[in-house]
Amino acid sequence: MPGDDQINSVPRHVAIIMDGNGRWAQQRGLPRVAGHQAGVEAVRRVVRICPEIGIRVLTLYTFSTENWSRPEAEVAFLMRVCEEYARREVAELRRNGVRLNVIGRRTGLPSSLCAALDQAIDETCDGDKLILNLALNYGGRAEIVDASRAAIAAYQRGELDPDALDETTFGRYLYTAGLPEPDLVIRTAGEMRLSNFLIWQVVGAIFWSTPVYWPDFDRQHLLQAIREYQEASKG
Ligand code: IPE
Ligand code: IPE
Ligand code: MG
Repeated sequence: MPGDDQINSVPRHVAIIMDGNGRWAQQRGLPRVAGHQAGVEAVRRVVRICPEIGIRVLTLYTFSTENWSRPEAEVAFLMRVCEEYARREVAELRRNGVRLNVIGRRTGLPSSLCAALDQAIDETCDGDKLILNLALNYGGRAEIVDASRAAIAAYQRGELDPDALDETTFGRYLYTAGLPEPDLVIRTAGEMRLSNFLIWQVVGAIFWSTPVYWPDFDRQHLLQAIREYQEASKG
C-alpha cells in the first residue's frame, strides 16, 4: 500500500545539531543571545511539526560539554532559556502528546533548571506521540564513559556477566537506553562536524547539513531533509 510505504519511510528518530544562532544574530547586528532567544521559536516550530509527520523521537543538541568554554554570561543565558522553555512549554507539550526526556550530565547544571526539567518530565510522562529528547550538558564521549561506569557498577553488584557484555548490552547503559538510534542527523549553519553528538548511536544514520541558521529553520527545511533522507535510504 503506498500509504504504508510513506509512513515507513519517515525517519523514526531525527536528531538535530542546532547551530548558527550566533551568526544569525551577528548578521542582524544583534548580540549572540538574541540568536539563542530566536532559536527557541525554531524549537517550538519543529516540536509541533514532528508528531504531525510521524516522527517518534526528536533529539535536540541543546548544550554540549564543550559549550562550558563559552563566556559565562552566554552560558548563563542558555541555562535560563532552557529553564524558561521547560516551565512555559509544559501545557503545549501535553496538548500535543509530547513527552520530555533529557540526556546528559546533571552535574554543573543550575539546580533551578534541574527542578524545572524534572517537573516537565513528570508532567509530560503520558505523551505518546513524540519523545522530545533534549541533549543538555551532553557529550558523546562523556556518555560512553558514564555508560562504562554504570556497567562496571552493575558488574560489582553481580548483575553483569562480563562475557555477556556486547554492543547491545552496552547500549542499555547509555543515556539513550530504550530509544531507537537516530535515522537522520540534521546540522544547520552549514557545518559538517558531529561535535561529539551521539557518537555511539549514529553508526547507521544519514547526515544532512543545510546552510540555514537554526533560528530560520522551519517546516520546509525539515520536509526537505526528510525527502533527501528518503532518497538516500533507497540506495
Ligand atoms: C548553536 O548556535 C547554539 C548552541 C550551541 C547552544 P551557536 O551559538 O553555536 O551559533 P554560531 O555557531 O556561533 O553561529
Ligand atoms: C554544537 O554546536 C553544540 C550544540 C548545538 C549544542 P557548536 O557550535 O557548539 O559546535 P562547534 O563549536 O561548531 O563544534
Ligand atoms: Mg556554533
